[in-house]
Amino acid sequence: PRILVLASGSGTNLQALIEAARERDFPGQIVAVGCNRPGAFALERAAQAGIETFTVDHTGYDSREAFDAALLAAIMKFNPDVVVLAGFMRILTADFVRALKGKMLNIHPSLLPRYTGLNTHQRVIDAGDTLHGVSIHFVTEDLDGGPVIAQAEVRVDPSDTAATLAEKVQRQEHILYPVVIRWFCEGRIQLDGHQVLFDGAAL
Ligand code: GRF
Repeated sequence: PRILVLASGSGTNLQALIEAARERDFPGQIVAVGCNRPGAFALERAAQAGIETFTVDHTGYDSREAFDAALLAAIMKFNPDVVVLAGFMRILTADFVRALKGKMLNIHPSLLPRYTGLNTHQRVIDAGDTLHGVSIHFVTEDLDGGPVIAQAEVRVDPSDTAATLAEKVQRQEHILYPVVIRWFCEGRIQLDGHQVLFDGAAL
C-alpha cells in the first residue's frame, strides 16, 4: 500500500513512521509527505529520508473549500491507499473527508471522546484527571469524532505539567501510530459505517 502523510509541524510522528517503514517486513511505502506550512520541519525530515514532498500553503487560498480542493488534487496525484494525518493542523471540509472516507487516519492527543480540539494536556490537568492518552481514529466529518481504532493510556501524576504530559503522550504516539498504520496496510482495519472492524470483527 501507498502511504501519504500530511503534517504541519515538527513531524515527530512522521519520523516514527519513516523509521518503522524501513523495517524489511513493513507492508507499506511512504510515497509522499504533504504540508500546509512552507518550511515546516516535517518537510525536512521527509527530504532527509528521500521521500517526495509537496506544500499547499493555506494562506494562498481565500476559502477552506478552495484550499481543500487544491490539497485533494495534490494528494490524488500520488494515488494513495491511506492518508495519514500526523499533526496536520487544518480543519478539513466535508467534501475532502468524503473523498478519502475509510482511507484517512488521524492521531489526537487525548482519550477520545474526551477532549476533542486543542490544548488537551492542559485541559486534562485542569480537570484533575488521572488518566490521559492518545487516540488514533478514522477521519469522518466530525472533528476528532471519527471512530476510534486504538488508544494508549498514560498516567497523570500530580507533578505533571502540560509539557511533561505532552512528552509522555508523544512517546506513546510514536509507538502506536506506526503499529496502527501497519495493521491498516495489512488490511486488518476497516471502516464500516460508523464502526471499526478489526480482522473483520467490530471493535
Ligand atoms: C501530536 O501530538 C498529535 O497528536 C497532534 O499533533 C502533534 C503532532 O506532532 N495531532 P508531530 O508533528 O508529529 O511532532
